[in-house]
Amino acid sequence: MSADDWLTDTRVSYDTVAASYLDITREALAKTPLLRGVLAMFAEAAREVGGPVADIGCGPGLITSHLHGLGLDVFGIDLSPRMVELAGHHHPDLRFHVGSMTNLDLADDSVGGVLAFYSIIHIPDHEIPTVLTHFQRVLRPGGVVMLGFHVGDRTRLKTEGYGGHPMSVHVHRRPVERVADWLRDADFTIEAQVLIGPDDDVPGGMLIARTKS
Ligand SMILES: C[S@@+](CC[C@H](N)C(=O)[O-])C[C@H]1O[C@@H](n2cnc3c(N)ncnc32)[C@H](O)[C@@H]1O
Repeated sequence: MSADDWLTDTRVSYDTVAASYLDITREALAKTPLLRGVLAMFAEAAREVGGPVADIGCGPGLITSHLHGLGLDVFGIDLSPRMVELAGHHHPDLRFHVGSMTNLDLADDSVGGVLAFYSIIHIPDHEIPTVLTHFQRVLRPGGVVMLGFHVGDRTRLKTEGYGGHPMSVHVHRRPVERVADWLRDADFTIEAQVLIGPDDDVPGGMLIARTKS
């Protein structure tokens, strides 16, 4: 088994579920005012920095489009070509590219903001420092990153999803402090920490952090 098999499995899994993922999540943001609130916090911070914003692990582009509606110059990147195709089809005014956050093909200091919304949940612990080093590298001085993730402390292999389609993807739940420490180790300063649904089985963790100016 090669070291990157997990990446191939993740790509194939999201290619398989892309259409049903879009159907199932299409209305999600409209029904979750608190998530819209946290995204608005990120948008305010990114707008102040200026420059384009990268939505990394953008899926079918629902959040990308929402951020565009909040006035950001935003583009999306996703590992799954099918997700990128769907995103481009439904949001022809926005730019979407295939790529991996583990090998981010963006120039140094080129973006004011990076959003990774429920996409680092598929990155194994040993690859997180590489991902955050890329985020640090592509952000302008004083740029902001927001990470959204499942809170907990376990990893499970998801073998089907989004209407019973086959998947083979690891889903990592992490304590907020562990993710915050990874950001600090990558030279980010944490500026906000929000826990959505602390009484839920799997709360949502949101961290907004900034590079040095
Ligand atoms: C749970 S979905 C979230 C999609 C979107 N951010 C949203 O909130 O609707 C996870 C997405 O992350 C993408 N992804 C997983 N690993 C990735 C990687 N290494 N680089 C870029 N995207 C990745 C998947 O293809 C999938 O579209």
